[in-house]
Order: sequence, then C-alpha cells, then structure tokens
Amino acid sequence: MATSSASLPSEFSNPNLEVLLSEEKIQSRIKTLGAEIARDYAGRNPLLIGVLKGACFFLSDLLRATDIRLGIEFMAISSYGSSLRTSGEVRIMKDLDVPIEGRHIIVVEDIVDTGLTLSYLLANLKSRGAASVKLVALLDKYERRQREVQIDYLGFQIPDHFVVGYGLDFAERYRNLPFIAVLRNPAA
Ligand code: IMP
Repeated sequence: MATSSASLPSEFSNPNLEVLLSEEKIQSRIKTLGAEIARDYAGRNPLLIGVLKGACFFLSDLLRATDIRLGIEFMAISSYGSSLRTSGEVRIMKDLDVPIEGRHIIVVEDIVDTGLTLSYLLANLKSRGAASVKLVALLDKYERRQREVQIDYLGFQIPDHFVVGYGLDFAERYRNLPFIAVLRNPAA
C-alpha cells in the first residue's frame, strides 16, 4: 500500500512551533560541552545523573561527546506535570540505585527555570557524601530564577518563553522534536 509522505501530518513542522535552537546548533554546542567535561574529568570516572524524563535526550548525546570512562544513573523529580508553571513542591519520584559516596557527580538537566528543583537536588546529592557535585544544563531561563543555582556547564541562556522539544514537553507532547522551539499557543 503506497502512502505519500506529503499527506502525513508533520509534528516537526507544526505551525504552533517557532524554532529557537536548531538541531545543528544544539549538537555543535553539546560537542563542545562534552570535550570540556572530558578534559576536566579525565581519570576521575564521574557518574552522570540524568533527571528524567526531559534530560534523557541531552544526556545520551552528551555521553557520546564525552570521551572518557564514566557511568550513568537516572533520577526522577516531580516538576511541572502538565501545567506551564512550577508548583514549588519538589519530590523524588525515582531515587538512585547506587551509593554515591566518594564519587564525582555530574547532574545532567534539560533546563533550569526557577531553580527550585535543582537547588533541592544538588543539596540532596551533596548530603550523601559525594566527592564533588557539578551541574550541566542545556538551557538556562535565568530571568525566572528564584533560587541561586550554579550551572557549571551550560548549553544556552534563553529568554522567558515556554519551550518544547529535544526532551522538553508540554503535557507529554513535543519531546521528540530534534530542535527546541517556543510554543506559540499552548492551548492550541
Ligand atoms: P525549575 O524547578 O523551575 O527550575 O524547573 C525545572 C523543570 O521544569 C525542568 O526540568 C522542566 O521539566 C520544567 N520546565 C521549566 N521550564 C520549562 C519549559 O520552558 N518547557 C518545558 N519544561 C520546563
């Protein structure tokens, strides 16, 4: 059965999306971040902790740009759910499966917005006796910060817009976009 691809509805060219960071721009920045991390952590076998679900995409590309021995783990923290604003309430939904005492930890996050989630998570990890805890974030929505968070490795600073794609969602939609876009009308 032949189907023309022209007749398929395209999510990637949805008119409700305005591209903010192209796939090429994201991938090129990640190569640079990976090289910096490889240089800074050579011989230290860091443990990269990805924050589910949004950071998986970034983590997987970042790992392949970081040419040193390392390990990965995942955590899930409660955040926005399906609304546009943070609740301010932070809960660990999935914890680490391994102890991190003495390990060099690099938390990998998609976006730092108010900073509530990360300030809680970084303090929590430090209290477990890690040798060091650093943060790599793809995006920094700095205008909305409520808690100070030190971003050790940053992809891009962005203005205060709700963005989707490359792991970031609106009500679980748009995570699969290979680029990052501003959602023009979330209600559409
Ligand atoms: P924070 O605690 O306010 O810094 O929020 C961090 C979390 O909120 C992120 O990990 C995202 O899951 C979510 N978030 C913040 N801004 C956006 C956005 O523009 N698009 C999608 N998710 C966002």
